Amino acid sequence: MRIAIDGPAAAGKSTVAKLLAKELGYLYIDTGAMYRALTLAALKSSVDLEKEHELVELANDTSITFQAGADGQQEIYVNEINVSKAIRDKDVTNHVSIVAKHRLIREKMVSMQQQLAEKGNVVMDGRDIGTHVLPNAEVKIFLIASVTERAERRHKENVENGFDSDLETLKDEIRKRDQLDSERDVSPLVKADDAIELDTTSMSINEVKDQILSIVIQKEVSEEGKS
Ligand code: CDP
Ligand code: CDP
Repeated sequence: MRIAIDGPAAAGKSTVAKLLAKELGYLYIDTGAMYRALTLAALKSSVDLEKEHELVELANDTSITFQAGADGQQEIYVNEINVSKAIRDKDVTNHVSIVAKHRLIREKMVSMQQQLAEKGNVVMDGRDIGTHVLPNAEVKIFLIASVTERAERRHKENVENGFDSDLETLKDEIRKRDQLDSERDVSPLVKADDAIELDTTSMSINEVKDQILSIVIQKEVSEEGKS
């Protein structure tokens, strides 16, 4: 079973996808981390983020891989260096949507993501999973929540981790990224026709996870009925 989870920034995709994958014993693939990893590499070099050919050259010379860490959490590596923390940096967050808008970059990432998902039994989260990466996924979920709620979630997370955080700035950054992601020409953030939309504004993490789990179980039962 392939489970695709899409939605705007801070809707809870990765938190819920991780829990779901753990409970089901599936592989979890964080596609946003891959765009972030390339953005980090680009910011560290002299690449112009608006120039697709420069980014493609960099992407061809950059190895982006996932490995399980000691605590079982998935870690991401750029050229064998663990960048799992560095890719969450504010600078990366505020530039990643520029990198992700380029057609050739997306083609490369999508093909890597499809390869990672080849073995099946996977939970993958991102923006275009249900529409482009896994268009035949058995379960497609589109998570949304109000901008205020999403900014508050990120704010809480920042405060808990001891980072400087301002709620109004976070709201602006989230709005800006959503706009770039939704309005780009190549595979924009959009709900797949056959995705189930869940508004998580007033839902806890476990409520969201349990609701998706029940959708997965229903799907399993209906697939078994067909065979
Ligand atoms: O976790 P958060 O919502 O902050 O973002 P993310 O999932 O880490 O994704 C970071 C950025 O990568 C998004 O804002 C998109 O610009 C891009 N992205 C994408 O274009 N397609 C994907 N499948 C995943 C991420
Ligand atoms: O991956 P995405 O950007 O969609 O969101 P996330 O990083 O999974 O979640 C953003 C924050 O919201 C995390 O701190 C989650 O713990 C929190 N969250 C929440 O409070 N309630 C939910 N229903 C889902 C996530």
